[in-house]
Amino acid sequence: MNLPAPPSADALRDALASLLDGLPPRRAAQAVERLIASYRGATPTDSPILRDRADVAAYAAYRMPATFEAVRSALAAFAGAVPGWAPASHLDVGGGTGAATWAVSATWPGEREVTVLDWAEPALAIGREIAEANPALKQARWQRTRIGPGLAPDPVDLVTVSYVLNELTESDRAGLLDAVAHAAGAVVIVEPGTPGGYARVIAARDRLVAAGFRIAAPCPHSAGCPIAPGTDWCHFSARVSRSSLHRQIKGGSLAYEDEKFSYVAAARLPVAPVPARVVRRPQIRKGQVLLDLCETEPSLRRTTVTKRHGDLYRAARDADWGDAWPPADAGEDG
Ligand SMILES: C[S@@+](CC[C@H](N)C(=O)[O-])C[C@H]1O[C@@H](n2cnc3c(N)ncnc32)[C@H](O)[C@@H]1O
Repeated sequence: MNLPAPPSADALRDALASLLDGLPPRRAAQAVERLIASYRGATPTDSPILRDRADVAAYAAYRMPATFEAVRSALAAFAGAVPGWAPASHLDVGGGTGAATWAVSATWPGEREVTVLDWAEPALAIGREIAEANPALKQARWQRTRIGPGLAPDPVDLVTVSYVLNELTESDRAGLLDAVAHAAGAVVIVEPGTPGGYARVIAARDRLVAAGFRIAAPCPHSAGCPIAPGTDWCHFSARVSRSSLHRQIKGGSLAYEDEKFSYVAAARLPVAPVPARVVRRPQIRKGQVLLDLCETEPSLRRTTVTKRHGDLYRAARDADWGDAWPPADAGEDG
């Protein structure tokens, strides 16, 4: 699902660019490369991977636009399932520099109570600094906290856990999910769009359903996922504009890249999930569009929409990976 850029995306980009002022480009690239290597290595770790300001500045400039877009995409799908609802309070667990707080404020504009928890003080410090550029985040609280057995958040409307589960031990992950299930009205979890990320999302989904939550997105139902374990993984894609630091590290001249992510949004409030969701990039052929759908059965099915289907065909040509199907306003006239 490709979303139009909100005004805050530009503010975030400018704030991230200014973080790198005074940091030599080579130094920034080295910090990012070292951090990517740490993230590929053995996580969880017993101390923060983000160690100092240069680390965090470089990593935020490199990764935050992508995690922001992934979370924004997940929240857009969630918002579609809870029309008229907006969180009055938001807790971002393992929030780092606060990408999810920017995504929440882009999805539901206006001020709310915002708390970001993380154990890496340099990440919180930079998050606080960047948030100065976003009026909705000026009052946010940035709290140094370790996710572990003692975590017991106060009641809150929305909890986000974005790109964090992978950094936790199995037992801290389970403990975190139980703690947020106890405190939150709604929970949105985002992980990398890899088989491992999907597996962690599904485990979290099962735990939230067992705690009484209903699944709002991406699934059209709260029953078990129809994907047989190990055969595939449900994931989506968000388009991210590349910065000059990106181009320096990754080479090439592409103006954008696609961030792959898996997610689940669950809530205690009533939800209206989509009837079906497009779970692969649609394949457009001459006179027909092939759509891979997850439906309410629950089942996975490929459907072919041809010119004969009139409006529905035109809608299928515009459909994107991650969209609801059929769109609410598409009729069949052929
Ligand atoms: C990959 S970053 C994601 C940051 C942010 N949520 C985002 O989406 O951009 C993972 C974050 O989790 C934090 N983290 C990892 N383990 C933690 C723990 N046990 N307690 C608190 N924070 C933790 C790290 O410090 C880091 O900021």
